[in-house]
Amino acid sequence: MLELSAISTSYGAVPMLRDLSLTVAKGELVCLLGPNGAGKSTTFNTICGLIAPDRGQLRVMGQNVAAIGAERLGALGVGFVPEGRRLFPSLTVRQNLQLGYDASACAAPFVQRLAEMGELFPRIGERLRQEAGTLSGGEQAMVALARALIGEPSFVVMDEPSLGLSPKLIDEYFAIVADIHRSGTTVLLIEQNAETALSIADRGYLLIRGRVAASGTSAELLRDDTVRHLYL
Ligand SMILES: Nc1ncnc2c1ncn2[C@@H]1O[C@H](COP(=O)(O)OP(=O)(O)O)[C@@H](O)[C@H]1O
Ligand SMILES: [Mg+2]
Repeated sequence: MLELSAISTSYGAVPMLRDLSLTVAKGELVCLLGPNGAGKSTTFNTICGLIAPDRGQLRVMGQNVAAIGAERLGALGVGFVPEGRRLFPSLTVRQNLQLGYDASACAAPFVQRLAEMGELFPRIGERLRQEAGTLSGGEQAMVALARALIGEPSFVVMDEPSLGLSPKLIDEYFAIVADIHRSGTTVLLIEQNAETALSIADRGYLLIRGRVAASGTSAELLRDDTVRHLYL
């Protein structure tokens, strides 16, 4: 679903990602951990084609993103949950979800998928006509997730989706992510919340200053000294 091989990225003259290699196979839930400023969102923006790497290979769904154009990723079955949700605040919940649907090549009709999202997120289903900017933080997080899921993606990439949520909502949110994974969706979960992310992930990577500092199964990372020192 995703292959980054020896990706290097810089902001002007400042190097950011250094020789980053990371893969996500079909059916996996992989997490990318790392402290603030480690390059997690830079990785996210590279995957969705917003930043062109200086060196290295990037393939999403087997395709070279630079060659096919980033705007085609939705139609290939990739859903994105960007950092900070990035909803359109003056559009309604339904309109925000429509944008996610329109970016996909989903075969099911929009109204059917809208009803299914309403079942998965009952609080969202009740608020389809409400302006997204007037929702609570937790509700906005659910809309951002529903917007990524409404097109029935086979692969979802999330950038710190639990940021700003209460502990109770974080548990609720991660339970939904685990369900999505169980039902067959491949997930790359970018997170600071290491213990919770590793509790649902198959595997993970720890990014520090743009480099992979550790990687392995969730059990291995929970025992890793650097991970323990940083998070646990
Ligand atoms: N557009 C940009 N221009 C210059 N520097 C940036 C830009 N975006 C991010 N950076 C810098 O790159 C580093 C990594 O940022 P980021 O990928 O957002 O980290 P993370 O998501 O892990 O917190 C930070 O030091 C940040 O200041
Ligand atoms: Mg970030």
